[in-house]
Amino acid sequence: MFNKKTVRDVDLAGRRALVRVDFNVPLRDGRVADDTRVRAALPTIRYLLEQGASVVLCSHLGRPKGEVAPELSLRPVAEHLAALLGSPVGFVEDCVGEAARSAAQALKPGGVLLLENTRFHPEERANDPEFARALAELGDIYVNDAFGSAHRAHASTEGVAHYLPAVAGLLMERELTYLGKVLSAPEHPFVAILGGAKISDKIGVVESLLARADRLLVGGGMANTFLAAQGLELGDSLVEAEALDTARGLLQRAGKKLVLPQDAVIADAFSADAQRKVVAVEAVPVGWRILDIGPRTLEAFREVVAAARLIVWNGPMGVFEMPPFAEGTVALAKAVADSPATSIVGGGDSAAAVRQAGLAERIDHVSTGGGAALEFLEGKELPGVRALLDKDADLE
Ligand code: 3PG
Repeated sequence: MFNKKTVRDVDLAGRRALVRVDFNVPLRDGRVADDTRVRAALPTIRYLLEQGASVVLCSHLGRPKGEVAPELSLRPVAEHLAALLGSPVGFVEDCVGEAARSAAQALKPGGVLLLENTRFHPEERANDPEFARALAELGDIYVNDAFGSAHRAHASTEGVAHYLPAVAGLLMERELTYLGKVLSAPEHPFVAILGGAKISDKIGVVESLLARADRLLVGGGMANTFLAAQGLELGDSLVEAEALDTARGLLQRAGKKLVLPQDAVIADAFSADAQRKVVAVEAVPVGWRILDIGPRTLEAFREVVAAARLIVWNGPMGVFEMPPFAEGTVALAKAVADSPATSIVGGGDSAAAVRQAGLAERIDHVSTGGGAALEFLEGKELPGVRALLDKDADLE
């Protein structure tokens, strides 16, 4: 249950809001290549402005190792945001210090400022208290709307919340409300779908979902490791040898809940123009590899999805970046969109796949969090959320 104060619980008129957003977006040729995360922050920014606040935005971008990396500047994001808002967005070349302080102080209600990449300072990742305090000086209230970074206990996501009244933004609230359905009182049948390359990244999620879901459909590279753990020979398919024991243990505990592929699209090379064919998973020849789920598997998965009341999906069913191996992922995305169930898609690759298929609008919630969504679904408390004021806390 989401029980934190949000921007709706506080008086914002005339206040300066320091807002942590997740503008960790891909850039290409100095421009924003995918603005999903920037758009996702707009409702909070607009709400704050409508309520008469001014807005000081901060974020990280990439992993610059605590020093200035010009190619990871947030300046292009400021320009992009200005275009989306239809009003100017100031930009300061540092997120702390004199320039940031005077720019923040000069902001009028309705003004928006974006600070430079917080990770240009090593103190950000170290969650240094002095650095957090310096950030806190830039606002009189702290709003965390960076769900995608809420699993990081960094100065701008966690530390700063100790120095200002700290509330959730609207995106944070939406993410936690939807993903929270999975953990507390899911509607049944509850179907979880997991894919992606590795089991080892997702053991915690598999355990957590097995405890809650009625069915767990598994595809993608991680299904290979489960199939190999059952003793199948999978040719040159990606199999995590070091995760075979774990996979065996999970299979034993899961029983019939865990549904694996029956057939697969295989290829004689890891390439879009490799030779392809469909075979049963028991019949993958040496020299061939599984790159997508097959039509019988898709049909079986579709049937389960059509009867679901709640669906959560993380990870593609195959190598969807290569069109010949995208069909399983895209067709399953369609089935999820068509299902009357409440549908939630975890961030990262599966969100990209849903957008690539043009289906994002037909999914109830496409998360902006990759790692954060997975940690949340594991049942971990996210430090960036824990630091926010509880719903029933005093504001003074
Ligand atoms: C993400 O893209 O998952 C978040 O922005 C967090 O980024 P990080 O993994 O570099 O902390």
